[in-house]
Amino acid sequence: MPPGRPARPGLMTMAREVRRCPSLAGVITPPGDKSISHRAAILNSLAEGRARLTNFSPGGDCRSTLNCLRAIGVGIEQLSADPSAIEVTGVGRRGFVEAADVLDAGNSGTTMRLMTGLLAAQPFLSIITGDSSLRSRPMGRLILPLRLMGSKIWGRGRDTLAPLAIKGQELRGVTYSLPVPSAQIKSAILIAAIFATQGKTTIQEPSKSRDHTERMLQAMGVDLNADDSFVSISPLRSPPVALDLVIPGDISSAAYWMVLGAAHPSARIEIKGVGINPTRTGVIDALRAMGASLRVVRERASGNEPVADIVVESSRLTGTTIAGDVIPRLIDEIPALAVAASVAGGPTVIADAAELRVKETDRIALMARELSRFGVAVEEKPDGMVIQGGAALHGALCSSHGDHRLAMSLGIAGALADGATLIEDAEVADISYPDFWQHLEMLRAS
Ligand code: S3P
Repeated sequence: MPPGRPARPGLMTMAREVRRCPSLAGVITPPGDKSISHRAAILNSLAEGRARLTNFSPGGDCRSTLNCLRAIGVGIEQLSADPSAIEVTGVGRRGFVEAADVLDAGNSGTTMRLMTGLLAAQPFLSIITGDSSLRSRPMGRLILPLRLMGSKIWGRGRDTLAPLAIKGQELRGVTYSLPVPSAQIKSAILIAAIFATQGKTTIQEPSKSRDHTERMLQAMGVDLNADDSFVSISPLRSPPVALDLVIPGDISSAAYWMVLGAAHPSARIEIKGVGINPTRTGVIDALRAMGASLRVVRERASGNEPVADIVVESSRLTGTTIAGDVIPRLIDEIPALAVAASVAGGPTVIADAAELRVKETDRIALMARELSRFGVAVEEKPDGMVIQGGAALHGALCSSHGDHRLAMSLGIAGALADGATLIEDAEVADISYPDFWQHLEMLRAS
């Protein structure tokens, strides 16, 4: 995959200037969790009944999921002027209808993979595509297990790339070992398994990826067993029950403030209502290992998910090693952690993270390239990078390359750097965090 491909051709790119923040203070409420929002919409669409979802992610990725679901007959209403409060009217397992057109997953890997799990079992034809970034991401890893369940799916590049054509079939359960941990593939198989008419489904993973699908299905009354290495589900005796949810704040969005607060010499930031599911909290562990002053307070539950507030303060950071089983627990936060590593004393080694090369962009190549513009010494490795640390960042002209997590990581680098930083295509933050730039200004102004 070429590292610098334009992810969203045709959209006008806008550059944003970010200047060093002399001090940072304030309270941030991050948007609803993107992963949980996708699942809440999809799983409630196949349940029977209505579900009210509040604090639903306002980002472009979850809009893509809602649009795909509407196109196959699911009723989705906005409950008020606030677009993050919606009602999903489930159609049950037999109520979906063929879409009149190609389904568009936009920039969202989760939309494409979870929707394909659902479409694989419907008695009609579906074609699903996405933007140029998504059309270059691996789909063979999705097609293979779904075919073992009896589905008929084809894709470009000898069935490895989207667009995908899906001719829904009656499915059977499967026993499958994921070659790399992936919550998207695990969830696609689990969703397909909800429709399987015979045979138990068991999925093994080399290390545990995020388990939001498992938790949500259990809360919807589905008989599902899971531990750290496997998850299994039998053909359903009764349909999943619709589930009202208050979606926890997104820890992947909170991560930018955790890094910025810890790395900045004069900062105190409180982040409210953050999901702290243990399969997602690797960023807290990594920052603490680097010496960050980070407190997790007022722990509580929202549905089947744990939530807390997080308080972060200026800290003297030191380099660390981020590798092994923690990687799936912080994979999306590595670009932000690379910024923390840039200013930390001593080197940071990031390894076992080759999956970063097949995200919205090649995040290893591009973070190494963009951070070096700020004066950071970064050595790219096939499965990660080594960041020398101790850099006095200087403002840079840099680009998100159409990747939301790069845009926001470069934004916090700019807030730490001397002088002005200009970030091309910064508005792509909208994919997961539409208010990101406003929140950065809020912290600066407080
Ligand atoms: C996600 C799973 C992860 C993550 C992605 C969201 C999910 O991807 O990187 O941003 O919601 O299931 P993989 O399943 O490819 O590891």
